[in-house]
Amino acid sequence: MLNKFFLKMKAIAFVGIVFVVFLALANDVYAASQLNKVNYSKDTIYQIVTDRFLDGDPSNNPDGALYSETDLHKYMGGDWKGITEKIEDHYFTDLGITALWISQPVENVYAVHPEGYTSYHGYWARDYKKTNPFYGSFNDFDELISTAHSHGIKIIMDFTPNHSSPALKTDSDYVENGAIYDNGSLIGNYSNDMDLFHHNGGTDFSSYEDGIYRNLYDLADYDLQNQTIDQYLKESIELWLDKGIDGIRVDAVKHMSQGWQETLTNHIYSYQPVFTFGEWFLGENEIDPRNHYFANESGMSLLDFQFGQQIRGVLMSKEDDWTDFHTMIEDTSNSYNEVIDQVTFIDNHDMSRFHKEDRAKTNTDIALAVLLTSRGVPTIYYGTEHYLTGESDPENRKPMPSFDRTTTAYQIISNLAHLRQSNPALGYGTTTERWLNEDVYIFERKFGDNVVVTAVNSGEQSYTINNLQTSLLEGTHPDVLEGLMGGDALQIDEKGQASTFELKANEVAVWEVTAESNAPLIGHVGPMVGQAGNEITISGEGFGEGQGTVLFGSDQASIVSWGDSEIVVNVPDIPGNHYNIEVVTNGNKESNPYSDFEILTNKLIPVRFIVEEAVTDYGTSVYLVGNTQELGNWDTDKAIGPFFNQIIAQYPTWYYDISVPADYTLEYKFIKKDALGNVVWESGTNRSYDTPTDGTDTLTSTWRN
Ligand code: NOJ
Ligand code: NOJ
Ligand code: CA
Ligand code: CA
Repeated sequence: MLNKFFLKMKAIAFVGIVFVVFLALANDVYAASQLNKVNYSKDTIYQIVTDRFLDGDPSNNPDGALYSETDLHKYMGGDWKGITEKIEDHYFTDLGITALWISQPVENVYAVHPEGYTSYHGYWARDYKKTNPFYGSFNDFDELISTAHSHGIKIIMDFTPNHSSPALKTDSDYVENGAIYDNGSLIGNYSNDMDLFHHNGGTDFSSYEDGIYRNLYDLADYDLQNQTIDQYLKESIELWLDKGIDGIRVDAVKHMSQGWQETLTNHIYSYQPVFTFGEWFLGENEIDPRNHYFANESGMSLLDFQFGQQIRGVLMSKEDDWTDFHTMIEDTSNSYNEVIDQVTFIDNHDMSRFHKEDRAKTNTDIALAVLLTSRGVPTIYYGTEHYLTGESDPENRKPMPSFDRTTTAYQIISNLAHLRQSNPALGYGTTTERWLNEDVYIFERKFGDNVVVTAVNSGEQSYTINNLQTSLLEGTHPDVLEGLMGGDALQIDEKGQASTFELKANEVAVWEVTAESNAPLIGHVGPMVGQAGNEITISGEGFGEGQGTVLFGSDQASIVSWGDSEIVVNVPDIPGNHYNIEVVTNGNKESNPYSDFEILTNKLIPVRFIVEEAVTDYGTSVYLVGNTQELGNWDTDKAIGPFFNQIIAQYPTWYYDISVPADYTLEYKFIKKDALGNVVWESGTNRSYDTPTDGTDTLTSTWRN
């Protein structure tokens, strides 16, 4: 009897252990198959100011002048333990969040700025190889990463390679004099080490060049061509990649040369590829072709300020309407090669919060619904789910007010973020306008046979919608928002036409069809640039379970792994150029070509080209063109430039920091090009340059008439 009882207990314990092991495995499998570090199309990012989210460990809080419970310029105690706690509590997974963007994790200055400011925001780095102790230790960081990963959540770190911290050339006691350390040992500071930093005063933002080579406010600006700085920053990002981060948000990309940043992305993608996106701030109605060029050529995506400012124009200032918004959607689908990789938002820590106390919550709800169903990777700024308000910084960075999960905003985000995971039309699809006026926007997203239709009325009157044509299938489609914003089911007839319905003021409805495809369809490739051997992930549908082939142009790539919706390959060793990628299933079905993957000639290093005595007419500039695709392949439309001539060197000397293939014999020439594209070539034979295998370089030449 007793024996039997023990046997039974043993059996129960055994089953229990098996079950626990199974759960653990299932969890891992889930996490592993979910965590695609280079494709965020199905993700919804949640942006956290780490210090303001949750104090999970009061013992790591600073004391004295650095800390306050009320002064928003001081540290307030939030840390990685707090974030970890909320992951374990399923706060994010219930909200549909699959990626957290956290403050830069590195050690920051301890000094208090004379104006009473502190580095609670993480943008004043001091030692990139240490943690900010007020956020936690490396152990706490490891725990954050492993907890996040086991819940299918990616961690994106903020990163500031443009500058260290506030400094003044004339006062070495100012804050910490911009000093930076390499795991505790001093590298240099702003007034002692002239080579590490620029000493060209603060920028007045008057030109691209001015913003790059002068200080942003009083922040000690790195000379990224300096070998020590270049190496230190690249080593530092390796350290955090080794820690398991899944994405990088690069601060102030408009304030660093594109050439150096191309070497940074190349470094990241060769070491451990993760989704990398930059902050290129644009004001209201600002459209900047350089911003598009950067997003298309640097290897990095950008925060989508055009999207963000436009939706604020429609719903916050009300100076614009949905017709302007749709124009932005169409324009950006042309100006960005990878519009689905741009990171969209309605607000962030550098602008007023979207919600205002005197505004109806429905206004914010509408913005969230459009954000989450539009193209791009949506980002929710922490607290938006609680209608947190705040004008300029630091009012827009108040502590998280609550962790309640019942607000309408929380439920809208949750419904639509989950829809992004299940219906690939949102991540990969095209956008078509189906009904539009100043108050109403009905738009369709479509990928293969997957369809999502969003209908919004932000006006004050109800509209009768008749003759609405969609790609939804015949039948009744329930509102994905379950009536949260007044929506109803939609009836579609056999011709794809919707029955007439009323779209009331402030109503939003979302309808969808998810359909499996049996033909191969590429939705996303990440990253879109790489050197031979780099790992590239191709996402989509219908690739089949059996291994087929992947072509770059007409060359086959070696396959690392093959699945029906995800293939990992190595970039083939073929000449640097732009190639279309195609998937061919083992049943010989060919996918759509995914255009313009850039194969690099070799690893990239940053070189400063200086050319003296290049006299030009007003409106004409110096460029460089050469024999690799990085240098335009002798096509003067793709020449690199326009060169600068104001700060590092002055007219008629010109300079530009360019990423070039390492360990390679470059042939090139300088050209003069005017605004109409008329070109004057240097005389003589091509210049030749054997590039170094590593580090940085400077080449000084004289223009040849
Ligand atoms: C942009 C960041 O988002 C902002 O908050 C910061 O102060 C500056 N860059 C400088 O790092
Ligand atoms: C600038 C070139 O214009 C572009 O084609 C290339 O993507 C990058 N350099 C990186 O090589
Ligand atoms: Ca704390
Ligand atoms: Ca700079």
